[in-house]
Amino acid sequence: MDRRHSLSYTTLLLTFLSLALFTSSIAAAFRDLSTVSYDEKFTPLFAEFNIKHREDGDGVDLHLNPYAGSGFISSDMYNYGFFSARIKLPGNHTSGIVVAIYTSNGDVFEKTHDELDIEFLGGAPGRPWRFQTNLYGNGSTNRGREERYTLWFDPSKEFHRYSILWTSRNIIFYVDNVPIREVMNSEEMGADYPSKPMALYATIWDASDWATAGGKYKVDYNFSPFIAQFKDLVLDGCPSDPIQLAGATWECSDAHAELDAADYALITPSRRASMRRFRQKFMYYSYCYDVWRYPVPLPECVIDPVEKERFKESGRLKFGGSHPRPGRQRRKRSRRSRGSSGSRNTLADYAM
Ligand SMILES: *[C@@H]1O[C@H](CO)[C@@H](O)[C@H](O)[C@H]1NC(C)=O
Ligand SMILES: *[C@@H]1O[C@H](CO)[C@@H](O)[C@H](O)[C@H]1NC(C)=O
Repeated sequence: MDRRHSLSYTTLLLTFLSLALFTSSIAAAFRDLSTVSYDEKFTPLFAEFNIKHREDGDGVDLHLNPYAGSGFISSDMYNYGFFSARIKLPGNHTSGIVVAIYTSNGDVFEKTHDELDIEFLGGAPGRPWRFQTNLYGNGSTNRGREERYTLWFDPSKEFHRYSILWTSRNIIFYVDNVPIREVMNSEEMGADYPSKPMALYATIWDASDWATAGGKYKVDYNFSPFIAQFKDLVLDGCPSDPIQLAGATWECSDAHAELDAADYALITPSRRASMRRFRQKFMYYSYCYDVWRYPVPLPECVIDPVEKERFKESGRLKFGGSHPRPGRQRRKRSRRSRGSSGSRNTLADYAM
């Protein structure tokens, strides 16, 4: 066995060990989640013919076929909230496909919209799904704040819960009950911190031109339909009219107090520790370390010199073995409609 091999076996062993440590330290499920029925709280967003009610309860399956993707939207908009669903992604030949669960008010505030995203970006052939989180506030579409990650499980095998908590204090993205990213409402964030009522959206769509390795791998419809399954939806928050914001704040004070006190809003020391471990092991891109894109990091970025060591100037991991860097070309890509939002400065997909 040459040195390279023994090295990679050691790496493999270490990866397994840390994975075992990571998963065994995941805290218990959220307490007191109350799910809502799709029929009561949601309506089709587009391609209703591709939205199928599930037989096992109150959820729906979103289909993507050669004719269309599909999507749904909550009937109400919420002034802060906890938005969540258990999702099972399509499993084979998923390149070019985006499955997204996100909050937005882009339909009401075209130029000054707010948005919080969890977007699954397909997998290159033989590669697992990857995903990103992102946010916009008051139309800050020329300041993407993407982070990208892999997962410690195969999201097409089982249902897993994906959640977005949005309060006046902070935003937390969750995978199952692991907080993976926290954004504080701060002076530095200013109006880029989402502040107006948003609806919850879920979509599946063809993003062949950018989603996987910068558009290198397209959707292969020989394997369609692609089905993203959604169930056990949660919508906690204060339903609000985005235009009548002034009254809503007062009316929502009880709902805000409940949100702040909920189990999912508590970042206990053990949850904070699992967030740190997740970010050390599974985050492979951060806008805060991407100096090609932001020569001066955005103001809320706290540059940790130890963490910075792990990232290249492209904001990508230096030793991310499974994420080769094909080229240096950087292209701006505008998003297709049906995706999380309209045209914007998205993360250039010069690598996977
Ligand atoms: C993927 O393809 C394999 C082989 O064709 C099949 O056994 C498996 O069920 C597929 N997985 C999914 C999630 O569709
Ligand atoms: C949001 O953006 C609009 C348009 O650019 C601007 O007029 C407004 O002052 C901004 N709001 C805040 C809170 O900064």
